[in-house]
Amino acid sequence: MSLRNGKSTEPAARETANRLNEELQEREEQTERFAHLATVRIGLDVEVRHKSVAALNRMLAHSLAIRDLYKKCHWQTSGATFYQLHLLFDKHYAVQEELVDAIAERVQLLGGVAQALAPDVVQESRLSRVTRSRETPTAELNGLLDAHEFILKEARALAREAAQRGDDGTNDLLVSQVIRAHELQTWFIGEHLDGA
Ligand SMILES: [Fe+2]
Repeated sequence: MSLRNGKSTEPAARETANRLNEELQEREEQTERFAHLATVRIGLDVEVRHKSVAALNRMLAHSLAIRDLYKKCHWQTSGATFYQLHLLFDKHYAVQEELVDAIAERVQLLGGVAQALAPDVVQESRLSRVTRSRETPTAELNGLLDAHEFILKEARALAREAAQRGDDGTNDLLVSQVIRAHELQTWFIGEHLDGA
């Protein structure tokens, strides 16, 4: 998906950014909460904080969704790789749990309200709508890779936009913690599929 017939990935990145902007704009219009940010004296205009809160709540929903997907896989995995994957999935769950906390606390720090409940996740993140069925280990791994790549594409677009509007802290959180963690987890998951 990232390389289309050997051409540049830039059009795909632009597509992600455009789609994200439209979806976030729509959510902002739907949700009154975003209109009333708490007063916070960190030298960022309310408009800047407004957009960062929307972006971070988006990432929060994705993080809650993939965190729980890891626990689903931790419980439901089976076969000859059961013990290894059971442990790995729980380790990745714990990392996602830390990301959830870091993202949610930055939403609050910016004067926003962190969206914490299951209905918010279902509404904001398509990653929460996966099969309830038990899957093979290969299907579990492929599903996790898809989820990581989806989040990475959005996180890069949101990080670039945060930097452009001068919110270096949000950019740093997205790059140093979110993107780096997802890239690392992608590597660990992907290596299990080598030759599968
Ligand atoms: Fe467990």
